[in-house]
Amino acid sequence: MNVALLFLLFCYFKLSYSIGNSSNTIIACPEAEKQALVSFKQSLKDPSNLLSSWNNGDVNCCNWKGVYCNNLTGHVDELYLQNLSGKINPSLLSLKHLKYLDLSQNRFDETMIPSFIGSLTSLEYLNISDAGFYGKIPHIIGNLSNLHTLVLEDNSESLEVDSLEWLSNLSKLEHLNMNSVNLSKATNWAQVINELPSLIELHLSSCNLISTDPLNVIANNITNSLAILDLSGNKFKSLSILRSIFQLNNLIFLDLSDNSFEGPIPSITNTSCKLQHIDLSLNYFNSTIPDWLYICKDLEFVNLRGNLLQNAISNSIANLTSLNTLYLSTNKLSGKIPREIANLCKMKRLDLSENKFKDKLSDSFGNMSDCFLGSLEFLSLRVNQLSGHLVDQFGEMKSLKNLYLGTNLLSGAIPSNLGKLSSLEYLGLRSNKLTGNIPKSVGQLLNLQYLLIGDNMLEGVLTETHFANLTKLKFLAASGNHLTLNVSSNWSPPFKLEGLRLGSWNLGGVGTHIPSWLETQKKNIKDVDLSNTGISGIVPSWFWEIPYLFLSGNQLHGNIPDISDSSLFLGLSSNKFSGSLPRVGNNVIKLDLSNNSFSGDMSHFLCDTTNQTYQLEILRLGGIT
Ligand SMILES: *[C@@H]1O[C@H](CO)[C@@H](O)[C@H](O)[C@H]1NC(C)=O
Ligand SMILES: *[C@@H]1O[C@H](CO)[C@@H](O)[C@H](O)[C@H]1NC(C)=O
Ligand SMILES: *[C@@H]1O[C@H](CO)[C@@H](O)[C@H](O)[C@H]1NC(C)=O
Ligand SMILES: *[C@@H]1O[C@H](CO)[C@@H](O)[C@H](O)[C@H]1NC(C)=O
Ligand SMILES: *[C@@H]1O[C@H](CO)[C@@H](O)[C@H](O)[C@H]1NC(C)=O
Ligand SMILES: *[C@@H]1O[C@H](CO)[C@@H](O)[C@H](O)[C@H]1NC(C)=O
Ligand SMILES: *[C@@H]1O[C@H](CO)[C@@H](O)[C@H](O)[C@H]1NC(C)=O
Ligand SMILES: *[C@@H]1O[C@H](CO)[C@@H](O)[C@H](O)[C@H]1NC(C)=O
Ligand SMILES: *[C@@H]1O[C@H](CO)[C@@H](O)[C@H](O)[C@H]1NC(C)=O
Ligand SMILES: *[C@@H]1O[C@H](CO)[C@@H](O)[C@H](O)[C@H]1NC(C)=O
Ligand SMILES: *[C@@H]1O[C@H](CO)[C@@H](O)[C@H](O)[C@H]1NC(C)=O
Ligand SMILES: *[C@@H]1O[C@H](CO)[C@@H](O)[C@H](O)[C@H]1NC(C)=O
Repeated sequence: MNVALLFLLFCYFKLSYSIGNSSNTIIACPEAEKQALVSFKQSLKDPSNLLSSWNNGDVNCCNWKGVYCNNLTGHVDELYLQNLSGKINPSLLSLKHLKYLDLSQNRFDETMIPSFIGSLTSLEYLNISDAGFYGKIPHIIGNLSNLHTLVLEDNSESLEVDSLEWLSNLSKLEHLNMNSVNLSKATNWAQVINELPSLIELHLSSCNLISTDPLNVIANNITNSLAILDLSGNKFKSLSILRSIFQLNNLIFLDLSDNSFEGPIPSITNTSCKLQHIDLSLNYFNSTIPDWLYICKDLEFVNLRGNLLQNAISNSIANLTSLNTLYLSTNKLSGKIPREIANLCKMKRLDLSENKFKDKLSDSFGNMSDCFLGSLEFLSLRVNQLSGHLVDQFGEMKSLKNLYLGTNLLSGAIPSNLGKLSSLEYLGLRSNKLTGNIPKSVGQLLNLQYLLIGDNMLEGVLTETHFANLTKLKFLAASGNHLTLNVSSNWSPPFKLEGLRLGSWNLGGVGTHIPSWLETQKKNIKDVDLSNTGISGIVPSWFWEIPYLFLSGNQLHGNIPDISDSSLFLGLSSNKFSGSLPRVGNNVIKLDLSNNSFSGDMSHFLCDTTNQTYQLEILRLGGIT
């Protein structure tokens, strides 16, 4: 007898003896359960052979992929199957001990949720999210009275219910997720939910829910259990449902974003607040930021963006020491930005943009704590009325990736230590009153992709050094300054730009042509502004394929070829273009040809023979001689 055979025999004995129940040995699944799985596999389509381990020759189905057995009894008690299609065979019913069934992320052949699932009464966990089912959810799921987790989420939005009463027998249910299931017919959804005594986590996002007024929901049984509530993306309007939500004692996570709530954010009556995450964004709340928010000391995430909130942020914000995300953009907040914000040690993302903050930047951000400087990754203060200088400390934000300060009243110079922001990807300073030179240190921003400094009063000369290490730069927008570019004509820049806006720059004085190094950017570039730069000569033919092209106010001459379908915005006014008017591409939205010297036949201009419609919204032809 050879060794291999001995080994096999040994395994066989070990297996067969272990069907009793000593621990530490391999337990095989019962034959009936194995056969159920074999039949189940036969109904599925499995082109990429994900179930290759489901081999009928293998005695023990507990070894099969996605199959888990109880280690004492050998019964199959967990089944996880993904990326399959085909039919679901009711042979699963033989798995009498099945507790966990995860059929999420499949593409079963466009079938309804099979009713037999309602007979798998041992199930404690059922996840059929995004499994390709459509139509009405069968009430029989309400028979699975051992369920603690039920996930019916459906991002394809093809599931609906005619009522939700069937849920009310699921008294052990702790986690319910029906995101994107159409619940518009379940008008008593709140009463049903309210009677689920164990519920901890409820996700009903984008379910077409509308609050009907007298329904004062979510009040009794779950007041003390519910910890996670997501009702975002519905059509709630009335504050009465909101008041009841704010009475939940145990809430940790609340998402009511993207509804139609209007009026003041209600007050909270209970004294302790356990919230860690609150999202009320994209509603019509018009009060101040409520005082109770500053008592929720565990808050990590606050999003109130896109409302009508007024008045100042309280300096009690200092108490929210766990805060890592604060989004208050697009409101009507005003006053000073409390300097306490710049001491919050965990802050990663701070967005106060599009408000009415009026302040010296140095008052709020002039004395930032080291931990704040170290943790901040995203800072947006754009579109406010902030004045004063950019303090040197901005150069010490070691983790900063995005800095948006555009459309304010900032003055003074760009501090040269901004070059130390080695993680910076986006630097937005446009539409301010910044003066002085662009520091050479900008050339050290190895990760910079967007440099937006247009519409300031910057001056001086930029050389190749300024760009030396900007290998990732995609967008340089700097029109509307008093800047000069001085690079050699055979410069080979390290970047591949998508956008270059140098309007009103000095590119070399009268008589300069379109810089030849631009040819190196041909591949990706979609947006070029060289207006009012004094350039002359002929436009290279590849330029006419650039979707956003602004060349007005120069000395350019020659014919304009037929405008291609890739062109969207073309500003060519006040040059010396001549010849006949070009044929206009169907996709052009804005075309300015004014103050040039066209002549000749114009029968083809805007009279193309194809029957597609023009997208043209603005056409300027004034001053054509
Ligand atoms: C098998 O396990 C059960 C439950 O753990 C135990 O009650 C029973 O005594 C065990 N039987 C044997 C033969 O070990
Ligand atoms: C059996 O499974 C339980 C629960 O998963 C685990 O705690 C236990 O350690 C396992 N026993 C053996 C012998 O593997
Ligand atoms: C399913 O497919 C996706 C995408 O191909 C893959 O990322 C995932 O790991 C697969 N899941 C399983 C359980 O095979
Ligand atoms: C349900 O399945 C989805 C997709 O596989 C997964 O992302 C989600 O976490 C699961 N839900 C629960 C509660 O386990
Ligand atoms: C569902 O449960 C009810 C009540 O327990 C029972 O009468 C009915 O037979 C069950 N339906 C199925 C299909 O198991
Ligand atoms: C809930 O269960 C009880 C008894 O188990 C049954 O009579 C009743 O019909 C069930 N209700 C629903 C809505 O399934
Ligand atoms: C939701 O269901 C209602 C009632 O069946 C229907 O009128 C509505 O169009 C559905 N909404 C969506 C987004 O499918
Ligand atoms: C839920 O609360 C109502 C009213 O307080 C009560 O009558 C009912 O018995 C409670 N249900 C459960 C399951 O606790
Ligand atoms: C807030 O909105 C409510 C409801 O639209 C309105 O009645 C109230 O006057 C508004 N309050 C303020 C301060 O704008
Ligand atoms: C903030 O904390 C301080 C000191 O712990 C305390 O005196 C103050 O009342 C708190 N403010 C709020 C709004 O909780
Ligand atoms: C570019 O980077 C290299 C290596 O990091 C460095 O030695 C050099 O000084 C940088 N050049 C400029 C102009 O910043
Ligand atoms: C003209 O429009 C009609 C209707 O939109 C379309 O069927 C036909 O193919 C178009 N003809 C051309 C030449 O584009």
